[in-house]
Amino acid sequence: MNIVTCKNVGAEVSGVDLRQLTGEQFHAIQTAFFRHGLLFFRDQNLDELDHIAFSKRWGDININRFFKAHSEHPEIALVEKEPDQQQNIGGGWHTDHSYDEVPALGSILAARELPPEGGDTWFVSAADAFDRLDPPLKNSLIKLTATHSGKHVFGSTSPYAQSQHQTGRLKGTDQADELPDPVHPVVIAHPLSGRATLYINPGFTVRINELSESESAAMLDRLYGEMMRDEFVERFEWKPGSIAFWDNRATWHFAQNDYHGHRREMHRITIEGEPLRRYISG
Ligand code: SIN
Repeated sequence: MNIVTCKNVGAEVSGVDLRQLTGEQFHAIQTAFFRHGLLFFRDQNLDELDHIAFSKRWGDININRFFKAHSEHPEIALVEKEPDQQQNIGGGWHTDHSYDEVPALGSILAARELPPEGGDTWFVSAADAFDRLDPPLKNSLIKLTATHSGKHVFGSTSPYAQSQHQTGRLKGTDQADELPDPVHPVVIAHPLSGRATLYINPGFTVRINELSESESAAMLDRLYGEMMRDEFVERFEWKPGSIAFWDNRATWHFAQNDYHGHRREMHRITIEGEPLRRYISG
């Protein structure tokens, strides 16, 4: 088995069959996941049950409330785009489930049908992004909290949810309307690595609570601008048999929507996480 660190974020694991890992291989994969928060696997041959079995090794499976589920395996959320659809799922920078009180650990995404070209997924590291900030800004951020919400994305008043509802790709708008909007630290101690990590994202972070509305918007824009610079983005090109496993607390992702007229189908399994803690410096 080979584990090669990627240029900007993550590591690519090859020469291993995820259906039959030895204890030693699983331990090496675990260590790499804790370190990088993002792993790519190539040339896998996992069917749905293998995908579920591998996912269960990392924790309990979160049954997605809003995505269309696989017809036989509710553990698998479908991330699909049909040739006649314009909008994709996940086509903006985000980290999944920050709108939950206890956000999910991460997701294991398997390619099932790919367009001839395009449909890459981009990733950035939220821990590296924090490291790059200047010390006074870091010190001010670690005292702050932010409110997150899924209502404007999945709720009944969201144009995105309404259009996706019609296509059958999203459900549960009423449930989304009832979500409490959780407050998380702006800088968390990452639950697996302990690293100081920025925990905000353009998809679901509504505002920084201790700042005025305009200051909060300006600060979020500034931080997002820092995080999403091209030179920090890892672009993953999917091939048949590719799997990506990302940590929602360590990375953001973005599904590129550049393959109109072609079908893309991915199977996503999400693993439950744990409560988040504020990073305490020193
Ligand atoms: C997602 O945001 O979970 C989907 C990512 C992708 O389809 O590449």
